[in-house]
Amino acid sequence: MKILGILASHQEHGLNAKLLDEVLQNVKPGVETETVYLENYDITPHKYHEKNAVLDELSKKLMESDVWVFAAPTYWRELSGVLKNFFDCMRPKFVYFKENGDTIPGQFKNKHYLSISSCYVSTLENFITGVTDESFKTIDRVMTAAGVIKVGEIVLPGTFGMKEIPESKKELCHKYAKKISVRKRKDDSTLKRYIQLFCMIAVMALITMGIQIPMKSFIGGSFWLNYVSFTVIFFVLLACILHFVTFVKHRRR
Ligand SMILES: Cc1cc2nc3c(=O)[nH]c(=O)nc-3n(C[C@H](O)[C@H](O)[C@H](O)COP(=O)(O)O)c2cc1C
Repeated sequence: MKILGILASHQEHGLNAKLLDEVLQNVKPGVETETVYLENYDITPHKYHEKNAVLDELSKKLMESDVWVFAAPTYWRELSGVLKNFFDCMRPKFVYFKENGDTIPGQFKNKHYLSISSCYVSTLENFITGVTDESFKTIDRVMTAAGVIKVGEIVLPGTFGMKEIPESKKELCHKYAKKISVRKRKDDSTLKRYIQLFCMIAVMALITMGIQIPMKSFIGGSFWLNYVSFTVIFFVLLACILHFVTFVKHRRR
């Protein structure tokens, strides 16, 4: 079992490096770890029929690892350029192309990844505006195309003037270190998703029926009024909860 840390910050010993270290130093005994600092590599696009030794070397490291940990600060409310460039250049290695130009997951399918990002804005501002969302979204988009499965996210807002990472974030890093130390099945969150969906529907149905009680004088015993009011209320509540789930999909604090 091996975990590869991929550091994509301008600073080799900055806060993202510290968060990444905190994860890698706390994996379970026997788990091998390695860190690559992308700034040390001259990463250029893969040209067909030409060898690209740097991409081949990085590709080998990715292949030898079971879990990848991306640590990339948020720059201009986006993913750091160095990680974006790495993703752009690795595209032919991440995905296979079908004859019609569509892509399908390539050689790294079913590996796992954890994302780390940080930003200057405060925890409250990041919670409200989601400055770090785009960084996580870009990583997710690329990894989804490559068929790599997400384990989680760690975010550190309020980094202006910060020298050391807070204890709470260290604890979160330790938690994820333990989580990524065990070999995962392909995608073991299917059952969790079904349970979440069942709970959501159960709560929504209960609230809908609760709302219908004071409407009894209007609905009377009419089956169709009962049905229509249930459907409309249930739909509105479900739309709200789905919007909420999407809104807080990325960790912001
Ligand atoms: C080019 C650049 C752009 C940045 N853009 C943003 C930004 O849009 N919003 C923000 O909150 N912080 C921004 N920052 C601050 C970084 O996110 C912050 O410095 C980061 O936490 C540093 O991580 P590090 O210590 O690993 O280098 C930017 C920093 C740089 C260098």
